[in-house]
Amino acid sequence: MNKVALVTGGSSGIGAMIAEELRKAGFKTIAAARRLEKMSSLKALGVVAVELDVTDEESIDRCLAEVRSSVGEIDILVNCAGVAPMGPVECVPEKTGRRAFEVNYFGLVSLTKKCLPYMRRQRWGRIINVSSPAGVVTQPFNSWYNGSKHAVEGFTKSLRQEMAQFGVVSSIVRPGAIKSELMDPVFNESVAGLYDEYDASYGRYVDVQRQIFSRSSGGESDSRKVALAVVKAATAERPKLSYNAPLSAAATVFVCRFLLPENLSNRLFARYMGCKDSP
Ligand SMILES: NC(=O)c1ccc[n+]([C@@H]2O[C@H](COP(=O)([O-])OP(=O)(O)OC[C@H]3O[C@@H](n4cnc5c(N)ncnc54)[C@H](OP(=O)(O)O)[C@@H]3O)[C@@H](O)[C@H]2O)c1
Repeated sequence: MNKVALVTGGSSGIGAMIAEELRKAGFKTIAAARRLEKMSSLKALGVVAVELDVTDEESIDRCLAEVRSSVGEIDILVNCAGVAPMGPVECVPEKTGRRAFEVNYFGLVSLTKKCLPYMRRQRWGRIINVSSPAGVVTQPFNSWYNGSKHAVEGFTKSLRQEMAQFGVVSSIVRPGAIKSELMDPVFNESVAGLYDEYDASYGRYVDVQRQIFSRSSGGESDSRKVALAVVKAATAERPKLSYNAPLSAAATVFVCRFLLPENLSNRLFARYMGCKDSP
């Protein structure tokens, strides 16, 4: 296969698995992230590793120039780089929250924008954006992340409508809870004394998150399911608007979006996450 796929967030977790599965599916695959040293096992599989900071315009331009000169024009872009700051709105530093939008949303938009001209000219392309069930339903203490993933969903759906005329198809992929480095900052931070009045409710929330992530069957098998959903979005003649994987993600999205009224699912989710007094 001659098609070229670029995956951001390729140095860890889900992005690394996506790069591996795209390579196995026969794509010329590039994994991009800031930590090149974390991509040596991908390189051994024939994946090309390129340095990229999605929050830095010059880094994006350097990365694209390197890919174009060493591999070729990009047919498939998988935007997977992401960060997940958590905490009460009052307590998450503005800088941290804005940084999440720079990585999860603005970086994704910039990179996408720079890949569209070639896809439009050749009348074929795939933009696959990794969102989350958190882009559909919300949780307390996750407002910056929820906001950024809702933004990713809105952007992707609008882009899909806009670019269909050129054969460029955008899809959303929503992973469920999967062990990776994503939650390390949350789990490594001590809650006590940090958030004053929020300590009890935020402490309960972090405990629930710990349980959810310890139940996830481990990074590998679940992130492979996500990666295979990405391969489907890349190869299907008519890719779906959204893919949810593994089953836990599909169940969450189905129950909260289609089965329950929005306010009820919102309240139940808040209670499940340890917030007892949701309106
Ligand atoms: N794990 C889950 O439970 C879960 C659930 C739903 C959705 N997701 C989404 O899945 C995606 C991947 O998450 P993951 O769980 O695999 O997390 P992860 O293990 O923490 O990986 C995050 C990746 O993003 C990259 N990244 C972060 N900041 C970057 C920047 N400024 N420029 C370029 N790359 C950057 C990191 O690479 P460098 O640090 O080397 O740059 C790393 O490769 C994220 O979009 C996340 O929101 C994850």
